[in-house]
Amino acid sequence: MSITTSSGATMKHPRGKLPLSIITVALCSLAFVALFYTERITLLSSTSFFRSTSCSRRSASLKSKHKAEQDNIYNTELDDRFDFDPEECNVVNGKWVFNSSIKPLYTDRTCPYLDRQVSCVKNGRPDSDYRHWEWQPEDCTLPRFNPEVALKKLRNKRLLFVGDSLQRGQWQSFVCMVEFIIPEEKKSLKQGRSHTVFKAKEYNATIEFYWAPFLIESNSDLHIIGDTKKRILKVDSVAKHAKHWLGVDILVFNTYVWWMSGPRLKTLWGSFSNGQEGFEELDTPVAYRIGLKTWANWVDSNINPNNTRVFFTTMSPTHTKSIDWGNKNGSKCYNETMPVMKKKYWGSGSDKRMMSVVADIAEKMKVPVTFINVTQISEYRIDAHASVYTETGGKLLTEEQKADPLHHADCIHWCLPGVPDTWNQILLASL
Ligand SMILES: *[C@@H]1O[C@H](CO)[C@@H](O)[C@H](O)[C@H]1NC(C)=O
Ligand SMILES: *[C@@H]1O[C@H](CO)[C@@H](O)[C@H](O)[C@H]1NC(C)=O
Ligand SMILES: *[C@@H]1O[C@H](CO)[C@@H](O)[C@H](O)[C@H]1NC(C)=O
Ligand SMILES: *[C@@H]1O[C@H](CO)[C@@H](O)[C@H](O)[C@H]1NC(C)=O
Ligand SMILES: *[C@@H]1O[C@H](CO)[C@@H](O)[C@H](O)[C@H]1NC(C)=O
Ligand SMILES: *[C@@H]1O[C@H](CO)[C@@H](O)[C@H](O)[C@H]1NC(C)=O
Repeated sequence: MSITTSSGATMKHPRGKLPLSIITVALCSLAFVALFYTERITLLSSTSFFRSTSCSRRSASLKSKHKAEQDNIYNTELDDRFDFDPEECNVVNGKWVFNSSIKPLYTDRTCPYLDRQVSCVKNGRPDSDYRHWEWQPEDCTLPRFNPEVALKKLRNKRLLFVGDSLQRGQWQSFVCMVEFIIPEEKKSLKQGRSHTVFKAKEYNATIEFYWAPFLIESNSDLHIIGDTKKRILKVDSVAKHAKHWLGVDILVFNTYVWWMSGPRLKTLWGSFSNGQEGFEELDTPVAYRIGLKTWANWVDSNINPNNTRVFFTTMSPTHTKSIDWGNKNGSKCYNETMPVMKKKYWGSGSDKRMMSVVADIAEKMKVPVTFINVTQISEYRIDAHASVYTETGGKLLTEEQKADPLHHADCIHWCLPGVPDTWNQILLASL
């Protein structure tokens, strides 16, 4: 019997269920943090460990009341998944399920904060199936994104996304999924060159984005250097960016795709004023390790895990080789309208060595880092990129460019609404 066809899924988590566990989750998160401090166990590999903690049991017993009347259903029916609990459910195992009655919370016409780059429908994307897939973990039900719950969790808090344009997509997705329940005069957006702040005034909450595509400093942060060979990474410097990350309650980092411009990267130690001549070329994973180590040291010396949660969004897959998913005639992700259905599908755009660098470094940190592990989930979604329904240099692609997807399709960024909404669903459920 198939898990995904079970209507038990909806019976199991009625919409109103989520708020009840907030306090539990908050309490548990603290205990969690303390545990991590001594145990240094990485989050997602710790399933069995946390199953035996008192916190899990406490949370289970709090929930049990609400579950009581449903328990019979669980035990006797097909669906034995439990409600999402970030400590217990490995959200990575699961599948995309098509449901035409699922409507995204926003569109690229209703949300005023979306970049043209990801506004695929506005840019002419004709098909719409890609908006009706829902991620269903095998072992639990992932609650849908509830904007009221999100804003309540963020009350008196700052949530800051830091990273590259994919992270900006995740930030925009988050903002768009909450902003429509806030009246016009009770929200604001302050756009800076690297730091943009959305504010929900009544909640005294902010949802912010800080642009730092490598996290560490480079000569290509604000004035982007098109020629990747001329980019030089200051792998031992982060302070210029990081001073903007202080005092934040929830930090969500990412960095990956900017490092993938070639097998080697130009790196510089010490000050730029020593001249750009002093750079050294390092293999990409080596440079990545040093850069992330610099980031990790900053986090460990400046972040108090009692006050701040740290998340890291894992690499967002790129889909530029259709042969990866067996479409010999394809042009990158162009014209793809269905996810890959093969379980554990993994393309050549996601470098496992790079993922293990991040995992390695996070494991040794004092401050616990929670991964939003989006890579496998998003790997399946060859259908969900901006493709030719995007812009370049501030202009929509011309018909000529659209007719040449091999050169012009964007198979890195995601249409919004779209896949990053699911990333935020996971983030919210983990808060
Ligand atoms: C599809 O989504 C609708 C609306 O959320 C829900 O009521 C329904 O149960 C879902 N169907 C399946 C098969 O999951
Ligand atoms: C508003 O939120 C900030 C954190 O973003 C917090 O420092 C401040 O105390 C909050 N104000 C009130 C009145 O709670
Ligand atoms: C975090 O809180 C615990 C318990 O209150 C305390 O023992 C610990 O010193 C705090 N850690 C930091 C880094 O402030
Ligand atoms: C791929 O293209 C070739 C030549 O254009 C064509 O003969 C073949 O049928 C195509 N295969 C698929 C699976 O579309
Ligand atoms: C894209 O898909 C459409 C409809 O399936 C088809 O007519 C068209 O030939 C495809 N274009 C390319 C370049 O594969
Ligand atoms: C993310 O999930 C994949 C499996 O899809 C796993 O191989 C990888 O180790 C996880 N990454 C992290 C950083 O936990």
